[in-house]
Amino acid sequence: MIFRQLFDRESCTYTYLLGDPSVGRAALVDTVREHVGRDLGLLEELGLKLGAVLETHVHADHVTGAGELRRRTGATCHVPRLGGAPCADVPLGDGDVVRVGEIALHVLATPGHTSGCVSYLVSWGDAAADRVLTGDALLVRGCGRTDFQEGDAGTLWDSVHTRLFTLPDATRVYPAHDYKGMSVSTIGEEKRHNPRLGGARTRPEFIELMAALDLPAPAKIAEALPANRACGDAGTGPDTGPERM
Ligand code: FE2
Repeated sequence: MIFRQLFDRESCTYTYLLGDPSVGRAALVDTVREHVGRDLGLLEELGLKLGAVLETHVHADHVTGAGELRRRTGATCHVPRLGGAPCADVPLGDGDVVRVGEIALHVLATPGHTSGCVSYLVSWGDAAADRVLTGDALLVRGCGRTDFQEGDAGTLWDSVHTRLFTLPDATRVYPAHDYKGMSVSTIGEEKRHNPRLGGARTRPEFIELMAALDLPAPAKIAEALPANRACGDAGTGPDTGPERM
């Protein structure tokens, strides 16, 4: 499997490219509209055709490149059903599997940062899943905020503890963001060292901690939420097809 972690410096977002070279097909997870050109260039260099664009959730901090990628490649857009994005070609729910060649992305509902958040447990061929794309549910030594988009700290705690921390310890954790220069972790590492959700932390402590964060709203939230409900197509100019809304 070809696996690439790509970064957007402005929103600190990770985009993931997963490719099956044997069939020349790829998926992109959590794209950023400003980097569509970069992503298409990389796919071309690697000899991969884009089959699917997936979101872990409807983002508030950046606009997705999904709609533009769909227009330019014919790929299908996969967005969690509970995310409120009617632009999706394929609404996803817990237990669904998105296949691209030998790659399988198994959908795990991990709500709490938003009510529609999912993680993608990734396997290749007959091998056991060895990595999970956790969106904003679980970051390296952190987690997504829970103070908007139906966020709920107790729900996030339950998602992480029942759906993610129950995966094998060696499972690699690839988050949707990083603000501290970290790129990857493992489930075992986060169980031991995540300062919010791991170690000796309790659920009530976590809820209290999240309620006290007092973070400013993301700079792009007013633009990003409506745009992302339209797969990034809102406000992109005259070629924005109303059929995509
Ligand atoms: Fe988010």
